This record gives sequence, C-alpha cells and structure tokens, in this order.
Amino acid sequence: MTVSRPVSAPDVLARKGGEAPLVMVTAYDAPSARAVDEAGVDMILVGDSVAMVVLGYDDTLHVTIDDIAHHTAAVARTKPRALLVADLPWMSYHLSRDDTVRNAAQLVRAGAGAVKLEGGRKRVDAVHAILDAEIPVMGHLGLTPQSVNAFGGFKVQGKTLDAARVIVDDAVALADAGCFALVLECVPDAVARMVTDAVPVPTIGIGAGRHCDGQVLVYHDILGFENRVRPRFVRRYANLHDAATDAIARFADDVRAGRFPSSDETYHASENVSEALGLYGSAAEASVGADTVHA
Ligand code: KIV
Repeated sequence: MTVSRPVSAPDVLARKGGEAPLVMVTAYDAPSARAVDEAGVDMILVGDSVAMVVLGYDDTLHVTIDDIAHHTAAVARTKPRALLVADLPWMSYHLSRDDTVRNAAQLVRAGAGAVKLEGGRKRVDAVHAILDAEIPVMGHLGLTPQSVNAFGGFKVQGKTLDAARVIVDDAVALADAGCFALVLECVPDAVARMVTDAVPVPTIGIGAGRHCDGQVLVYHDILGFENRVRPRFVRRYANLHDAATDAIARFADDVRAGRFPSSDETYHASENVSEALGLYGSAAEASVGADTVHA
C-alpha cells in the first residue's frame, strides 16, 4: 500500500504480517535522505551506525545525542514521506527516566517521528517512559552494536537454544511494553522466525534471514561506499567507492593536464571590462548571464 501523507508509526504497526514487507534504509544527511525517500522506502533510520560509516569510528559508542539530533535535523529538512526513526545512542537512555525522555524529545524536536533503542527486558522501563511522552519506540534485539564490548565483538547472537529463548522473551516483553516494531540484527533465521511468530508487531531484519516482516540495510552498504568490510548479510546494489575514486582521479588528471576548467566552465568579463583590464580574447568567449552561479 502506498500512502502519500507521511508514514506514521501506527501505519508501520498496521503492516504486521502484511503481504508487502516493510523497507527501512539508513540516511544521515539531506542528499542520502532524498535518495532513500525518492526510492519509496517506508522508514528512514538515522542510525548510530553514522559513527562507523560516516564519522570513521570503529564502533557506535562514540556518538552523542547531539550528534544524532544534528543528523536527524538534516534528514528532517528534506521532509521525507517515510517515517523518520532516530537512534537513541549509547548512554542516552541508561541513566534515568528523566534523562531518557529528555533525550528522546530532543530527537523528536530535531524531526524524528519515532526513536529506537537497543536491549530487551531491561529496557522496558525506558520504553514506558518514552511512550508516556507520546513518542513511538522501536526496539532492537540480537546483535545490538552498543553492547559490542559486553558481547566481545560484533558476533551473531541467539545461536544456542537458551540464547534464542532469551531473544524471544525479550521481544515479547518489548512488544508488550508498546514498541511498534522491532529490529532483529544478526540472529539465525530460525530465531527471527520464532520472534516474528511470537510478537504482534513487525520485525525488521538485518542479517536475520527472510522470516521477518521487513528488512533494513545501511545506505553506505547498499551503495558500496567502502570496500573495507562486507558482512555476509549485505547485498550491494552499486560500487560507489570505485565510481567515486575513478571520477576524482579523472578530475585530478584533467586539472594536471590543463583540461579543467574549460571556457564553458568559466565566468567571463564583458568585452569592455576585458579591454579596460588589458585582457584580449577572453571577452570573445563570454557566456551570457553568467552572474547566476546555480543555473
Ligand atoms: O544504526 C543502525 O544503522 C542500525 C541498523 C543496523 C538497524 O541500528
């Protein structure tokens, strides 16, 4: 179903078990938000993955609520149709109820229509507090990157029967608490299927197989912005790293060979001014109306 008004959290919830899987893609700035929204996704996630794919950190623990609000505001300025979900970063919902609500509200004021947080039953109080402020909450289970140190690395979760049961119980607790959707990251497909069957809210998988109500990928992974790492769950639809490197190398060659800028890429003075300046020849190449920079 395509709606022309902005997608809301209740719209997403209503898609549970529907025919068309939900699609979420991350974006962190205005150009990426426009590309993702024009592609017709249901949700744009301003993920704390911005730390790793944009800001050059090795994990997501380094971004603050101000960082996420900054990127959320850039995405929101494009007025996307998709629901804008913003990540609550590490330490923004761990200290107190007041702090949690204040931080979630900062993301709403930056333009988010919902927030996402990581963790299971121990986050139920935070979910209640945020919902009390009328802010929709998305949960996130499985490989929760903010727990990288506790997990001992970025590792697939839910591989034993006990671990799988913990994830299912956590998912049920988050759905009972009022989360409108749950991200399941890097869990075996059988576990994702158990969770999807157990909860009345959509599950959005990333590295969780096909038995979810939707899928999410990171913008930079879909587009191949980097060749350094490539998890098995990523399907690349472009190789923008190579395209960008090639384009910039050709620009450098053109500059060094004197081919850039051309006359067409240059603002020329009028004949009179050129003559007065003692310059001959350049006025003949004058382009009309060249005082408007953005044509
Ligand atoms: O930050 C992020 O990009 C995420 C997705 C991986 C779901 O949380």
